[in-house]
Formats: sequence, structure tokens, C-alpha cells
Amino acid sequence: MAEPDSWEDMESAPQAAPLSAKPASKFTFNPNAPSFSFNPSAAAFTPTTPSFGSSGGGLPGFAAQNVDAVPPPVAKEPSPVKAAVPEPPAPAPSPPEAVAEDATADKLAELDLGADKDAADSGVVSETEHVESASDIQGESEKAGDLSSAEEHVAADADQSADSANSDRGDHSSEDSPEKQPPPPPEEIDTRPHMNVVFIGHVDAGKSTIGGQILYLSDMVDERTIQKYEREAKEKNRESWYMAYIMDTNEEERAKGKTVEVGRAHFETTKSRFTILDAPGHKNYVPNMISGASQADVGVLVISARKGEFETGFERGGQTREHAQLAKTLGVSKLLVAVNKMDDASVGWAKERFDEIEKKMLPFLKGCGYNVKKDVHFLPISGLLGLNMKDRMDKKFCSWWDGPSLFEALDAVELPPRDPNGPFRMPLIDKFKDMGTVVMGKIESGSVRRGDSLIVMPNKAHVKVVTVYRDNDEVSYAKPGENLRIRLSGVEEEDISSGFVLSSVARPIPVVLEFDAQLQILELLDHKAIFTAGYKAVLHIHSVVEECEIIELLQEIDPKTKKPKKKKVLFVKSGAVVVVKIQVFEAICVEKFEDFPQLGRFTLRDEGKTVAIGKVVKLPTATTVSHE
Ligand code: GTP
Ligand code: MG
Repeated sequence: MAEPDSWEDMESAPQAAPLSAKPASKFTFNPNAPSFSFNPSAAAFTPTTPSFGSSGGGLPGFAAQNVDAVPPPVAKEPSPVKAAVPEPPAPAPSPPEAVAEDATADKLAELDLGADKDAADSGVVSETEHVESASDIQGESEKAGDLSSAEEHVAADADQSADSANSDRGDHSSEDSPEKQPPPPPEEIDTRPHMNVVFIGHVDAGKSTIGGQILYLSDMVDERTIQKYEREAKEKNRESWYMAYIMDTNEEERAKGKTVEVGRAHFETTKSRFTILDAPGHKNYVPNMISGASQADVGVLVISARKGEFETGFERGGQTREHAQLAKTLGVSKLLVAVNKMDDASVGWAKERFDEIEKKMLPFLKGCGYNVKKDVHFLPISGLLGLNMKDRMDKKFCSWWDGPSLFEALDAVELPPRDPNGPFRMPLIDKFKDMGTVVMGKIESGSVRRGDSLIVMPNKAHVKVVTVYRDNDEVSYAKPGENLRIRLSGVEEEDISSGFVLSSVARPIPVVLEFDAQLQILELLDHKAIFTAGYKAVLHIHSVVEECEIIELLQEIDPKTKKPKKKKVLFVKSGAVVVVKIQVFEAICVEKFEDFPQLGRFTLRDEGKTVAIGKVVKLPTATTVSHE
């Protein structure tokens, strides 16, 4: 059993999550249905999506509703980087879970989520140009395979055990697989680091506006498109939302001015490549936010400085708190806190307001486990006006800020390197048919190149890598941390579901129906205040969303001494740390946290509330490849 101390390694991102269209694309999970489903309305991903390319002009003469003084147009330089392009189709939005109330910072503080083991990344995001029509996608996605029965998976596991009995899974410092080819010559590899950046924070803080502005400032959206959005937003009486429309692509989002599905887009600087994940702030869509954050390495926590808005987001039950906590649990260790709406009339770029927010936020973020000295940076911006975003702060608006702009701060984030030689692990977040089966996900371990032989777990389908796409480009090789689309041969699209993992053949990921985990219980539901055997919840682990049940409480850990308590434990309450046996109803792929943190950490949610965070400490030997 792992030492409770090893909570401190609860870092780096597991993952999850699917997509949508235009500069931004969307994804969501249905917590109750781990199979894929596409959102037909979001599948507007076709070459007709917003015109991209550099535009040169300034911001249209838009008199922002909430803006005190509108500055002159933001001058745009020709982009030194290649344009990012739209993304593929999107799965359907998940049914809103109920509010995830406050998940107690104090409790999390006890977890010591501290030292960052490996929120590492250097990779690339991929898109395919070849996406089928919306109706095709929808048709296919309706067929989309549910997991086959648990029994079949266990059978598969048993085979797998036999196949892999001799594999040494403990050592993943070097890849085992004989199927692996040597990496391509350096000129074929884009050496710029790639980062997955999730924008989180309370509803209406300005996340989508900032995402849209980033794409605009990096020449991913042209002037005409912006003007179209401006008109559209005006028609909907949401004038100030036009920038958010770049990220909020579907009708519901635009009509309500609220992000529902995580928007995804790409942008680049000369130094780095980025995937933006624009999470919804509304409490009903926390599961979607979890999907987005679990794919990210870096978080931009957006805070509205507007009078009253910071306060609402930061109070108990506000999503500023919940998102910051969840992001940390999900492996986001580096956080930029963008204090937004500094242009608002109630703020007027006042240093006092910025300082007040920083002062109040810092102890809380520390309590969440962030290393606030090293890994958290505050900066003032105006997403709507594009100030202190690409270029440094215009002193005309804010004389006191000498720090970096948002782009500079993002460029400066350093992620620890990942081992490209580890056993291949890519949890799948989405799939579709396109001249074969195309799967999407982020490489959590190892690397991939065209021609590799791999296995999809848990259904044990042997596949060959036909094409690897990163952004819109076909590449022959991709490193860990990259977001990819991979065309496979040897498997039907309907035989793959979200949560499956593309793995090394020689060292496939374990498949389990139960495992032991150490849990930090957060705040339990009022009417379910006792946590005991029989407790049912929804497990979110990498791209898996699955119902689970607590089978047995094995040991309670004293949160102070971090030592196991001697007394047998039958139940615990909010705040406890406890080792439990968890059962899932469908076989899932997981790893021990200590081996692959990204694939071994999870959250338990119940009735829309995050009730516990946990890590996998032991896998049953009977149903998995030999692991211990
Ligand atoms: P959800 O997706 O619903 O969580 O909201 P969000 O955080 O994406 O906020 P969104 O970008 O949709 O913006 C909400 C409102 O805040 C819109 O009216 C924006 O115009 C406004 N807003 C965003 N950024 C700024 C800013 O920098 N200054 C001002 N004055 N208003 C802003
Ligand atoms: Mg939004």
C-alpha cells in the first residue's frame, strides 16, 4: 500500500475529452454514457468554417457594452507563425450535472498536492482535414460502440495476462516494444514545446472572450469573421460577446452567452505551440470542465475584476474555487491567474483591485496545493480589448504593470520533459470514421510513428498506425504530450469508445473491474454524509467516465500523521483520507498512480458534486497484466 505521503505526487494530467468546430472545436462527456456521441450542431466543422488567415487590420470599431473607454484598435502584426485551423467534429454536450458545490480548499490543503512530478509536455495538437459531413458523423456516432460486456473485457484481460506475463511493466523508462521504429530525423520534428492550456474560472469571467481574442491576435481569425460575429452578437443583444463567439460555436452557447462544451483551438508563437481548451464556467457543466482540465498541462484561471464578480466567483460554491481545486487534482500544476475586465468602469485598471484579488487568492491557491511561489503568476488583462495579451501592457491604460503579457507568460511556462521512450499510452477521447478509423487523444507516455503496431485496450484490438495528424499536418512521428488524431487500420470505429487506451503491444495498459485507491474525501452531500461500502459515484479517470461503487473501506489514514489508523474502519465522513476498494461496472484501463500519475488519478462525483479525489494504489493481479 502506498504511503499517504505520496499524495504529494498527485500531479500531471490524466485526461479526457472530445471536440467541436471552427477555430474552436468542442468536446464534452456524458457522465452516464462513456460512449461517444457527437453534437450534430457542432459538427459544422467543414472547410467553410470561419475564414482564417492573417488579416492585418485592427479590431472593428466595436463600442463594448461593458467598457468604460474603448481604446484605439489593437494593432496587429503579421503573424510569425503558421495559421491554426479548425477542428473536427464534436461529441454531444453532456446532460448538465447538478451543481458541484464547494469542494473545500481546506481539505485539499491537507492533501499536500505539492511537488510537481511531471505535468510535463512537449507535443503537438492534431487535426484531420478529412472530416465527414455532419450527418455522416452523426450517423456513425449514433452507432458508436458501447463497451462490450464486462465479462468480455475480463476475458480479454485474462488473455492479455497470459500474453504479457513476462513483460516488465514496472520499468517504463525505456520502451519495450519491438514494433517501435527509431525516431525520425530531427528536421521532421517541430522542436517547439507544445502546451495544452485550459481556461477555467467562474461563469462569465471572460474565458471565451480571451480565447477568441488570442486567436484574433495570433491571426487565426480574420477581420471579416470578427465583423460577422459582431453583427450576430448584436442581433442577439449580446454585443459584447462577439469575441466569445470565436470559441462559443454552437447556437445554444451564443444565445445564452454561456459556454457548454469545451472549446478547443490552436495557436502558436515563435517559441511554442498551444492548444487552448475553453472550459465552461457554469456549475452545471463541471463535468465538461473536468474533461478539459484533465487534458491540460497549464491552467489560465480567469477572474473577473469587475465589482461583485470576483466576490461571487470566489465565495463558497463559486467556480473560481472549484475549478482551481479540480484543475490541481487533474494535474494542472502551473497556473496563470488572469485578472480580467480590468478595463471595466468599476475597476478602471486600479492597482488596488488587482492587489486585493491577488492577496485573497494566494492563500486559497496555496491551500489547493499549488506552489504559489514557483507555479502561480498573476497578471492584469482585458480580454475584450486585447490588452496585455499579445503585446505588453499599453501604459496609457495601466501605468503600473511592468510584468509580462499573457503570451509572454505562456511562453515562459516550462514543463518538465517527458520520456518519449516509455510504453505507449494514449487515452482516447474521441473517434470517427474517415477513410478508416480515426482516434483522438493526447499521448501520456511514449511516442508514436507511422507504421507502428499498437493495441487498443480494453478490447484488445491489434491495430496499425496509418496516419498521424498534428493540428492539420500529417506527421510521421509524435512525442508524449501531443494531442493527435491517428488513423488506424485493423479496428472498426464502432468498436472503440471514449476511455479506451491506445497502448504498446508489449506492455499494454492494465484493464480492471476493481482496484484499490486512496481517497481524500471532500465535502459529502448533506443527505449522504456517511461514506461507506456501497457508496456509488461517477468515476472520472483520464478519458474514462464510469459509474463505480465502493466495495470495502480498507484503512483510514490519519491526515495529520499520514499514518494508517489501527482501528478497523467501517465509515468515514467529509475530510477523511481513506484507502478503499472500488468496483466499476464496465472494465476500464487504469494505471497505478505511482507508475503513470496521469492515468492513475481521478475524481469521484455524486449528484453533480465532486465528493472525493483519489489515486490508484493497487491493481488486482488476477485481472491485469502482471504489474507487481
Ligand atoms: P462562461 O463560458 O459562461 O463560463 O463565460 P466566459 O468566462 O467564457 O465569459 P465570456 O467570454 O462569455 O464573457 C462574459 C461577458 O464578459 C461578456 O459580456 C464579455 O464581453 C464580458 N467580458 C469578457 N472579457 C471582458 C473584459 O476584458 N472587459 C470587459 N469589460 N468585459 C469583458
Ligand atoms: Mg465561455
